[in-house]
Amino acid sequence: MTSKLDTLNSKKAEALKGGGEKRIESQHGKGKLTARERVQLLLDDDSFEEIGMLTSHRSSNFGLDKQQFPGDGVVTGYGTVNGRPIYVFSQDFTVFGGSLAEMHAKKIVRIMDLSLQNGVPLIGLNDSGGARIQEGVVSLGGYADIFYRNTLASGVVPQISAIMGPCAGGAVYSPALTDFIYMVQDSSFMFVTGPNVVKTVTHEEVTSEELGGASTHSQKSGVAHFSVENDLKCINDIKKLLTYIPQNCEEQSPRYAYEASDELREGLNNIVPENPNQPYDMKEVINEIVDEGSFYEVHEAYAENIVVGFALLGGKSIGVVANQPAFLAGVLDNNASNKGGRFVRFCDAFNIPLLVLEDVPGFLPGTEQEWNGIINNGAKLLYAFCEATVPRITIITRKAYGGAYDVMNSKHIGADMNYAWPSSEIAVMGAKGAAEIIFRKEIQGAEDPEAKWKEKEAEYAELFANPYNAAKHGFIDEVIEPSETRKKLIRAFDMLKNKVAHLPKKKHGNIPL
Ligand code: HXC
Repeated sequence: MTSKLDTLNSKKAEALKGGGEKRIESQHGKGKLTARERVQLLLDDDSFEEIGMLTSHRSSNFGLDKQQFPGDGVVTGYGTVNGRPIYVFSQDFTVFGGSLAEMHAKKIVRIMDLSLQNGVPLIGLNDSGGARIQEGVVSLGGYADIFYRNTLASGVVPQISAIMGPCAGGAVYSPALTDFIYMVQDSSFMFVTGPNVVKTVTHEEVTSEELGGASTHSQKSGVAHFSVENDLKCINDIKKLLTYIPQNCEEQSPRYAYEASDELREGLNNIVPENPNQPYDMKEVINEIVDEGSFYEVHEAYAENIVVGFALLGGKSIGVVANQPAFLAGVLDNNASNKGGRFVRFCDAFNIPLLVLEDVPGFLPGTEQEWNGIINNGAKLLYAFCEATVPRITIITRKAYGGAYDVMNSKHIGADMNYAWPSSEIAVMGAKGAAEIIFRKEIQGAEDPEAKWKEKEAEYAELFANPYNAAKHGFIDEVIEPSETRKKLIRAFDMLKNKVAHLPKKKHGNIPL
């Protein structure tokens, strides 16, 4: 038996070495952790159970049969994070550059199947040179097997991807099909075609970082939801994200012990400026309303005119969607609509109640917006809210103009509770523009057109730049003092906690993609 145990132990020891000491040194030299170090950091101590440690490839192409690395370049298994189970795969760049081939893919597929069957989140730590060139088409098949499962699992279990090294070609589509993408600054990139191909095809000269680094994807394309400084921060942030989300679509969003105290927040009474055209930071409002320090922003550097993220309110996890008057006046544009719509759908898929904070002057006008499909993109946000069946509450803090009023979780499209602060202006448009349109002749014919315009603007503002007309029609349930907001929200979400709502029976809807 001893010799058999020795064999077992030596095989395991071989697997633990990955691609060997030199390659591990090189990995560390790039500021990157190894696949196993990442898994250890992610999971609770002593909770990792590895699956397929001794799997190896079956190819003999280009002398591959002489290069065997147990595990085939990916560490897979399960364990717990803060006591809750997860499945994880972590690509090992020290083995064939973490490249994906037949057996490597099979290992990932296996834990994806387990994740879906058992209703447990899947975390993918990506660090790979893409399809293993020596294995050819089986690698492509392996990717497609993974894409298919990503799609089946979408909306059933949360899927989180971390890009911790290269991710190029078709390989990008697995992370893209998952719910959240983290990218590590300076050591990761994602692109469909790399700088050399770009140069050949379009004659553009661009570095990998510019083309698909963490800052590019977290600011310009929105592909990455989070850009993080290093591997350690990446893993810690994934752990944090997991605290806000349930294990699967059958579970409710997490609730943590919370001791109620004085829920009034006097500071909220002084955030919205007297002048309706003066900006203020909606994140200050969010932070005052939610449990202290609990707001975890998603897509922080992308489409900053809308703010989305998770928070706890009275200990309960919620999703927050808020217009940001401090950036482009909080207007809705293509990127903000996509960002908001995607977040709303994630929350709805995983039973996370939604809080909407609204201060929106409308949709952004202009050819750039129209030609890039603001009609379709705005409709995505609208669609996402309309079909969301989770508890949904809106607070209008200031402007709620035009179509954007309807879109931002109005009562008409299924919000459960709609509150407005006294500073609200719920109208078809701002008073200045409205006066110019409906009183144009009167203004033009006046002795002093400027004065007339001001007078008509004031008249319109008096009538419509307030929340009371909307309240009269029942579109607003209550006009509240800002300081009471947190208290009202805790009570209202509690009141809505057993909400049951069903969409009409259908195969699936047709969101305007
Ligand atoms: C096999 C690979 C590999 C790959 C890297 N390696 N990529 N082996 N298949 N795709 C190996 C290298 O031979 C090397 O082995 C080790 O990994 C480290 O690679 P280096 O080049 O030394 O590392 P680095 O300088 O950091 O560059 C990393 C890299 C580069 C940028 C990823 O290796 C690279 O460009 N690789 C090719 C990428 C690529 O074209 N992949 C196919 C994309 S198409 P040794 O033994 O020296 O340690 C694709 C299609 C997917 O993925 C389609 C899905 C539908």
